[in-house]
Amino acid sequence: MSKYTYLLGGAVALAMLPTVAFAACDANERVVKFSHVTAVKGHPKGEMVAALAERFDEKFDGTMCMEVFPNSTLFNDDKVLEALILGDVQLAAPDVGKFDAFTDRLQVFNLPFLFQDTQAVQKFTESDAGQSLLTSMEDSGITGVTWIYNGMRQFSANKPLIAPSDASGLRFRATTSDVTEAMISSLGATPQALAFSEVYGALQTGVVDGQENTWSNIYTGKFYEVQDGITETNHQFLTYLMVTSPEFLDSLGEDRQAFLDLVADVAAEYNARANEQNAAARQAILDGGGTIRELTAEQRQKWVDVMKPVWSRFEDNIGKDVIEAAIASNK
Ligand code: LMR
Repeated sequence: MSKYTYLLGGAVALAMLPTVAFAACDANERVVKFSHVTAVKGHPKGEMVAALAERFDEKFDGTMCMEVFPNSTLFNDDKVLEALILGDVQLAAPDVGKFDAFTDRLQVFNLPFLFQDTQAVQKFTESDAGQSLLTSMEDSGITGVTWIYNGMRQFSANKPLIAPSDASGLRFRATTSDVTEAMISSLGATPQALAFSEVYGALQTGVVDGQENTWSNIYTGKFYEVQDGITETNHQFLTYLMVTSPEFLDSLGEDRQAFLDLVADVAAEYNARANEQNAAARQAILDGGGTIRELTAEQRQKWVDVMKPVWSRFEDNIGKDVIEAAIASNK
Protein backbone atom coordinates (compact mmCIF):
# COMPACT_ATOMS: atom_id res chain seq x y z
CA MET A 1 0.00 0.00 0.00
CA SER A 2 1.38 3.42 -0.86
CA LYS A 3 0.59 5.70 2.06
CA TYR A 4 3.64 7.85 2.42
CA THR A 5 4.07 9.40 5.83
CA TYR A 6 6.69 11.82 7.09
CA LEU A 7 7.40 12.04 10.79
CA LEU A 8 9.83 14.05 12.82
CA GLY A 9 12.86 12.06 13.87
CA GLY A 10 14.93 12.25 17.03
CA ALA A 11 17.64 14.71 18.01
CA VAL A 12 19.98 13.53 15.28
CA ALA A 13 17.34 13.99 12.62
CA LEU A 14 16.45 17.42 13.93
CA ALA A 15 20.04 18.56 13.56
CA MET A 16 20.10 17.41 9.97
CA LEU A 17 16.90 18.66 8.37
CA PRO A 18 14.29 16.45 9.94
CA THR A 19 12.06 13.95 8.25
CA VAL A 20 11.99 10.28 8.84
CA ALA A 21 10.05 8.85 5.96
CA PHE A 22 8.29 5.56 6.13
CA ALA A 23 5.43 3.94 4.40
CA ALA A 24 2.60 2.66 6.50
CA CYS A 25 2.68 -1.03 5.62
CA ASP A 26 -0.36 -3.25 5.72
CA ALA A 27 -0.23 -6.19 8.13
CA ASN A 28 -0.20 -8.68 5.23
CA GLU A 29 2.71 -7.00 3.42
CA ARG A 30 6.33 -8.10 3.74
CA VAL A 31 8.33 -5.18 5.21
CA VAL A 32 11.61 -4.30 3.48
CA LYS A 33 13.79 -2.00 5.60
CA PHE A 34 16.20 0.54 4.04
CA SER A 35 18.55 2.26 6.49
CA HIS A 36 20.84 5.19 5.66
CA VAL A 37 22.54 8.11 7.38
CA THR A 38 21.74 11.29 5.48
CA ALA A 39 18.94 13.81 5.26
CA VAL A 40 16.11 13.35 2.77
CA LYS A 41 15.17 16.74 1.33
CA GLY A 42 17.81 18.26 -0.95
CA HIS A 43 20.07 15.25 -0.68
CA PRO A 44 20.95 13.03 -3.69
CA LYS A 45 20.79 9.79 -1.69
CA GLY A 46 17.92 10.80 0.59
CA GLU A 47 15.65 11.83 -2.26
CA MET A 48 16.57 8.83 -4.39
CA VAL A 49 15.76 6.37 -1.60
CA ALA A 50 12.47 8.13 -0.78
CA ALA A 51 11.43 7.90 -4.45
CA LEU A 52 12.46 4.25 -4.57
CA ALA A 53 10.28 3.48 -1.55
CA GLU A 54 7.29 5.23 -3.06
CA ARG A 55 7.59 3.39 -6.38
CA PHE A 56 8.36 0.09 -4.65
CA ASP A 57 5.12 0.42 -2.69
CA GLU A 58 3.15 1.13 -5.85
CA LYS A 59 4.71 -1.75 -7.74
CA PHE A 60 4.46 -4.39 -5.03
CA ASP A 61 1.26 -3.10 -3.42
CA GLY A 62 -0.38 -5.82 -1.35
CA THR A 63 2.72 -8.04 -1.16
CA MET A 64 5.70 -5.90 -0.09
CA CYS A 65 6.27 -2.47 1.40
CA MET A 66 9.47 -0.46 2.02
CA GLU A 67 10.25 1.36 5.27
CA VAL A 68 13.02 3.97 5.02
CA PHE A 69 15.08 5.03 8.05
CA PRO A 70 17.23 8.06 7.07
CA ASN A 71 19.43 10.27 9.30
CA SER A 72 21.03 7.31 11.14
CA THR A 73 17.73 6.69 12.95
CA LEU A 74 18.10 2.92 12.68
CA PHE A 75 21.78 2.13 12.06
CA ASN A 76 24.89 4.24 11.82
CA ASP A 77 27.41 4.18 8.99
CA ASP A 78 29.13 0.79 8.59
CA LYS A 79 27.07 -0.71 11.49
CA VAL A 80 24.30 -1.15 8.96
CA LEU A 81 26.39 -3.75 7.13
CA GLU A 82 26.44 -6.11 10.12
CA ALA A 83 22.66 -5.61 10.40
CA LEU A 84 22.25 -6.40 6.71
CA ILE A 85 24.24 -9.63 7.01
CA LEU A 86 22.10 -10.62 10.02
CA GLY A 87 18.91 -9.83 8.08
CA ASP A 88 17.81 -7.00 10.43
CA VAL A 89 17.67 -4.66 7.44
CA GLN A 90 17.41 -5.53 3.75
CA LEU A 91 18.85 -2.46 1.99
CA ALA A 92 21.52 0.15 2.67
CA ALA A 93 23.61 2.57 0.61
CA PRO A 94 26.82 3.42 2.47
CA ASP A 95 29.56 5.64 1.16
CA VAL A 96 32.02 3.29 -0.62
CA GLY A 97 34.61 4.32 1.99
CA LYS A 98 32.69 2.31 4.60
CA PHE A 99 33.23 -1.14 3.08
CA ASP A 100 36.89 -1.47 4.07
CA ALA A 101 36.19 -4.43 6.36
CA PHE A 102 34.83 -6.41 3.38
CA THR A 103 36.89 -5.44 0.34
CA ASP A 104 39.86 -3.23 -0.55
CA ARG A 105 38.76 -2.81 -4.14
CA LEU A 106 36.08 -0.20 -3.47
CA GLN A 107 38.74 2.09 -2.01
CA VAL A 108 39.49 3.12 -5.60
CA PHE A 109 36.75 5.75 -5.28
CA ASN A 110 38.51 7.38 -2.35
CA LEU A 111 41.89 7.86 -4.00
CA PRO A 112 42.26 11.66 -3.88
CA PHE A 113 42.03 13.51 -7.18
CA LEU A 114 41.24 10.39 -9.21
CA PHE A 115 37.80 11.11 -10.71
CA GLN A 116 37.48 14.53 -12.33
CA ASP A 117 33.67 14.68 -12.42
CA THR A 118 30.37 12.77 -12.27
CA GLN A 119 30.63 11.73 -15.93
CA ALA A 120 33.92 9.97 -15.20
CA VAL A 121 32.39 8.14 -12.22
CA GLN A 122 29.45 7.11 -14.36
CA LYS A 123 31.74 5.82 -17.11
CA PHE A 124 33.70 3.81 -14.55
CA THR A 125 30.69 2.37 -12.69
CA GLU A 126 29.19 1.26 -16.01
CA SER A 127 32.46 -0.33 -17.19
CA ASP A 128 33.27 -4.04 -16.74
CA ALA A 129 35.72 -3.13 -13.96
CA GLY A 130 33.08 -1.07 -12.17
CA GLN A 131 30.38 -3.71 -12.59
CA SER A 132 32.71 -6.39 -11.20
CA LEU A 133 32.87 -4.43 -7.93
CA LEU A 134 29.16 -5.04 -7.34
CA THR A 135 29.84 -8.67 -6.50
CA SER A 136 33.18 -8.16 -4.73
CA MET A 137 31.67 -8.81 -1.26
CA GLU A 138 29.37 -11.74 -1.97
CA ASP A 139 31.51 -14.11 0.12
CA SER A 140 30.65 -11.89 3.11
CA GLY A 141 26.91 -11.93 2.42
CA ILE A 142 26.73 -8.49 0.79
CA THR A 143 25.86 -7.84 -2.84
CA GLY A 144 25.80 -4.55 -4.76
CA VAL A 145 22.57 -3.56 -6.47
CA THR A 146 23.40 -0.18 -7.99
CA TRP A 147 25.58 2.91 -7.62
CA ILE A 148 24.29 6.22 -6.27
CA TYR A 149 26.22 9.42 -6.97
CA ASN A 150 26.65 12.35 -4.64
CA GLY A 151 29.46 14.72 -5.67
CA MET A 152 32.90 16.12 -4.94
CA ARG A 153 34.10 16.45 -1.36
CA GLN A 154 35.44 19.75 0.00
CA PHE A 155 37.55 20.53 3.06
CA SER A 156 36.36 22.86 5.81
CA ALA A 157 37.88 23.93 9.12
CA ASN A 158 37.66 26.42 11.95
CA LYS A 159 40.30 28.56 10.20
CA PRO A 160 40.86 29.49 6.54
CA LEU A 161 42.41 26.73 4.44
CA ILE A 162 44.19 27.97 1.31
CA ALA A 163 47.50 26.09 1.28
CA PRO A 164 47.62 22.43 2.39
CA SER A 165 49.99 23.54 5.15
CA ASP A 166 47.06 25.48 6.68
CA ALA A 167 45.59 22.09 7.62
CA SER A 168 48.75 20.96 9.39
CA GLY A 169 48.26 20.29 13.10
CA LEU A 170 44.46 20.30 12.84
CA ARG A 171 42.18 17.37 13.68
CA PHE A 172 39.75 16.36 10.92
CA ARG A 173 36.79 14.04 11.09
CA ALA A 174 37.37 10.99 8.88
CA THR A 175 35.17 8.15 7.72
CA THR A 176 36.48 4.66 8.48
CA SER A 177 38.20 4.61 5.08
CA ASP A 178 41.93 3.83 5.32
CA VAL A 179 42.55 5.95 2.22
CA THR A 180 40.79 8.95 3.74
CA GLU A 181 42.75 8.58 6.97
CA ALA A 182 46.02 8.43 4.99
CA MET A 183 44.96 11.42 2.91
CA ILE A 184 44.30 13.53 6.02
CA SER A 185 47.57 12.40 7.60
CA SER A 186 49.45 13.45 4.45
CA LEU A 187 48.43 17.05 5.28
CA GLY A 188 50.19 16.79 8.65
CA ALA A 189 46.72 16.68 10.20
CA THR A 190 45.16 14.07 12.50
CA PRO A 191 42.24 11.96 11.26
CA GLN A 192 39.53 11.21 13.80
CA ALA A 193 37.09 8.50 12.73
CA LEU A 194 33.54 9.54 13.61
CA ALA A 195 30.12 8.42 12.44
CA PHE A 196 28.35 10.86 10.15
CA SER A 197 25.70 11.61 12.81
CA GLU A 198 28.45 12.78 15.17
CA VAL A 199 30.10 15.30 12.83
CA TYR A 200 27.99 18.39 13.59
CA GLY A 201 28.40 18.00 17.36
CA ALA A 202 32.11 17.27 17.07
CA LEU A 203 32.66 20.43 15.01
CA GLN A 204 30.50 22.51 17.32
CA THR A 205 32.26 21.42 20.50
CA GLY A 206 35.77 21.48 19.02
CA VAL A 207 36.34 17.72 19.28
CA VAL A 208 37.55 18.13 15.69
CA ASP A 209 38.66 21.28 13.88
CA GLY A 210 37.44 20.33 10.43
CA GLN A 211 35.85 17.82 8.12
CA GLU A 212 35.55 17.05 4.42
CA ASN A 213 32.32 16.30 2.59
CA THR A 214 30.08 17.18 -0.35
CA TRP A 215 28.07 20.39 -0.67
CA SER A 216 24.83 18.49 -0.06
CA ASN A 217 26.18 16.86 3.11
CA ILE A 218 27.73 20.10 4.36
CA TYR A 219 24.44 21.94 3.77
CA THR A 220 21.93 19.39 5.05
CA GLY A 221 24.19 18.56 8.01
CA LYS A 222 24.59 22.32 8.71
CA PHE A 223 28.35 21.85 9.10
CA TYR A 224 28.99 25.25 7.48
CA GLU A 225 27.33 26.92 10.49
CA VAL A 226 30.09 25.68 12.80
CA GLN A 227 33.10 26.17 10.49
CA ASP A 228 35.11 29.24 9.47
CA GLY A 229 34.65 28.36 5.81
CA ILE A 230 34.76 25.69 3.13
CA THR A 231 37.59 25.42 0.61
CA GLU A 232 36.62 24.16 -2.83
CA THR A 233 39.21 21.39 -3.09
CA ASN A 234 37.05 18.92 -5.11
CA HIS A 235 39.40 16.21 -3.89
CA GLN A 236 37.26 13.03 -3.87
CA PHE A 237 33.99 11.94 -5.43
CA LEU A 238 31.48 10.56 -2.93
CA THR A 239 29.82 7.48 -4.41
CA TYR A 240 27.41 5.13 -2.63
CA LEU A 241 26.90 1.46 -3.25
CA MET A 242 23.35 0.30 -2.70
CA VAL A 243 23.64 -3.14 -1.16
CA THR A 244 21.48 -6.02 -0.07
CA SER A 245 22.10 -9.66 0.79
CA PRO A 246 22.06 -12.52 -1.74
CA GLU A 247 19.44 -14.16 0.54
CA PHE A 248 17.10 -11.20 0.16
CA LEU A 249 17.45 -11.20 -3.64
CA ASP A 250 16.82 -14.95 -3.77
CA SER A 251 13.78 -14.59 -1.52
CA LEU A 252 12.16 -12.27 -4.08
CA GLY A 253 11.66 -15.18 -6.44
CA GLU A 254 9.91 -14.04 -9.59
CA ASP A 255 9.87 -10.40 -8.35
CA ARG A 256 13.69 -10.29 -8.36
CA GLN A 257 14.10 -8.85 -11.87
CA ALA A 258 11.25 -6.37 -11.43
CA PHE A 259 12.93 -5.14 -8.23
CA LEU A 260 16.35 -4.80 -9.91
CA ASP A 261 14.83 -2.98 -12.89
CA LEU A 262 13.01 -0.58 -10.58
CA VAL A 263 16.21 0.19 -8.64
CA ALA A 264 18.12 0.77 -11.89
CA ASP A 265 15.45 3.15 -13.22
CA VAL A 266 15.21 5.23 -10.05
CA ALA A 267 19.00 5.37 -9.61
CA ALA A 268 19.49 6.54 -13.22
CA GLU A 269 16.87 9.24 -12.81
CA TYR A 270 18.24 10.55 -9.51
CA ASN A 271 21.93 10.20 -10.39
CA ALA A 272 21.25 12.58 -13.27
CA ARG A 273 20.15 15.19 -10.69
CA ALA A 274 23.08 14.88 -8.26
CA ASN A 275 25.17 17.70 -9.78
CA GLU A 276 22.21 20.06 -9.70
CA GLN A 277 21.44 19.18 -6.07
CA ASN A 278 25.02 19.82 -5.00
CA ALA A 279 25.10 23.14 -6.88
CA ALA A 280 21.87 24.13 -5.10
CA ALA A 281 23.36 23.14 -1.73
CA ARG A 282 26.50 25.20 -2.49
CA GLN A 283 24.32 28.23 -3.22
CA ALA A 284 22.21 27.62 -0.12
CA ILE A 285 25.38 27.63 2.00
CA LEU A 286 26.30 31.04 0.56
CA ASP A 287 22.74 32.30 1.06
CA GLY A 288 22.88 31.02 4.62
CA GLY A 289 25.98 33.11 5.37
CA GLY A 290 28.61 30.39 4.86
CA THR A 291 32.01 31.23 3.42
CA ILE A 292 33.31 29.37 0.37
CA ARG A 293 36.92 29.79 -0.73
CA GLU A 294 37.76 28.98 -4.32
CA LEU A 295 41.32 27.94 -5.19
CA THR A 296 43.31 29.02 -8.23
CA ALA A 297 44.66 26.19 -10.39
CA GLU A 298 48.11 26.70 -8.82
CA GLN A 299 46.72 26.65 -5.27
CA ARG A 300 44.73 23.46 -5.95
CA GLN A 301 47.76 21.79 -7.51
CA LYS A 302 49.53 22.10 -4.14
CA TRP A 303 46.77 19.96 -2.53
CA VAL A 304 47.17 17.44 -5.35
CA ASP A 305 50.95 17.31 -4.83
CA VAL A 306 50.55 16.64 -1.10
CA MET A 307 47.65 14.16 -1.12
CA LYS A 308 47.99 12.18 -4.36
CA PRO A 309 51.15 10.30 -3.27
CA VAL A 310 48.97 8.24 -0.86
CA TRP A 311 47.81 6.25 -3.92
CA SER A 312 51.02 4.20 -3.96
CA ARG A 313 50.22 2.70 -0.52
CA PHE A 314 46.90 1.27 -1.71
CA GLU A 315 47.60 0.27 -5.32
CA ASP A 316 48.36 -3.39 -4.67
CA ASN A 317 45.30 -3.94 -2.47
CA ILE A 318 42.87 -2.14 -4.77
CA GLY A 319 44.34 -3.71 -7.90
CA LYS A 320 46.16 -1.94 -10.74
CA ASP A 321 43.46 -3.10 -13.22
CA VAL A 322 40.73 -1.32 -11.24
CA ILE A 323 42.77 1.87 -10.84
CA GLU A 324 43.69 1.96 -14.53
CA ALA A 325 40.04 1.53 -15.54
CA ALA A 326 39.10 4.36 -13.19
CA ILE A 327 41.80 6.67 -14.60
CA ALA A 328 40.73 5.82 -18.16
CA SER A 329 37.17 6.91 -17.38
CA ASN A 330 38.35 10.54 -17.11
CA LYS A 331 38.93 10.65 -20.89
C1 LMR B 1 30.12 10.52 5.48
O1 LMR B 1 30.09 9.78 6.48
O2 LMR B 1 30.85 11.50 5.35
C2 LMR B 1 29.20 10.19 4.33
O3 LMR B 1 29.52 8.91 3.94
C3 LMR B 1 27.77 10.26 4.71
C4 LMR B 1 26.90 9.89 3.55
O4 LMR B 1 26.31 8.81 3.56
O5 LMR B 1 26.81 10.72 2.63
